[in-house]
Amino acid sequence: MEVTNHVKEAFTELAPSYTSTMDKELNQFWGISYPDFVERLVKVAAVKPGEKVLDIATGTAVIPIKLISTIQPQERVVGLDITPAMLQQGRKVIADRSIMNTIDLVCASAMDMPFANGMFDVILCGLGTHHMNVPKMLFEARRLLAKSGRLIISDVGATPFWRSLAGKLLIRLLMFEYGFTNQSARSQAELEAFQNVRTAKEWSALLRDFGYVKVRIDEIQPRLPWFPSGLTLQAEIAG
Ligand SMILES: C[S@@+](CC[C@H](N)C(=O)[O-])C[C@H]1O[C@@H](n2cnc3c(N)ncnc32)[C@H](O)[C@@H]1O
Repeated sequence: MEVTNHVKEAFTELAPSYTSTMDKELNQFWGISYPDFVERLVKVAAVKPGEKVLDIATGTAVIPIKLISTIQPQERVVGLDITPAMLQQGRKVIADRSIMNTIDLVCASAMDMPFANGMFDVILCGLGTHHMNVPKMLFEARRLLAKSGRLIISDVGATPFWRSLAGKLLIRLLMFEYGFTNQSARSQAELEAFQNVRTAKEWSALLRDFGYVKVRIDEIQPRLPWFPSGLTLQAEIAG
């Protein structure tokens, strides 16, 4: 799946209210707040002093901002996103906090990232992969990671219920209803992303196919069976 106009349009519209919308949706799906989600991701990343970090699909740069406030990396953190309006929101917060010298924001696609091979020790991606061609993103991330570099992804996942006959039928019905009653770019982008939501087992196989090792996946169970689960994936490039 390539980046569609719906993705950029959806996140351009959403940018001013991004944080509150995420807070509402994550509470609805998993019973956790958006700040809690970001804090967990940063904790899992466990960035060490001197490590070079890239945050893919950084959006409004909430993850880099949290990283530099908690871990205080010695290197500048790089955030990459395809939607200028999301980055613009992040730039405002970065300027308000006078932390311009700690974060670089780059507008580009995760399908083709403008960085040299082996440049990063840690790559993060929060709530972004379901909008991407995941194999291409994993290929690019592997190219950019240094030896023993770590990839940490946290995103919506499919549960085994989604793969059952009852689950498939119910979810198709719900999607039809959602598409019928919501005509916004956001709903179109989420509907297009649906085919890209994987179970923990499917992610694990894909990561291994792309040469990642030490794969670990933690799952937050959804509050209702037809909601997506929350997957946090950790993997490494062989040393
Ligand atoms: C739900 S937001 C996640 C933002 C942030 N990572 C967070 O956790 O709050 C998804 C972001 O992915 C970005 N995105 C989608 N497809 C992308 C691609 N191919 N390359 C770069 N960014 C992409 C969108 O522009 C949007 O800002």
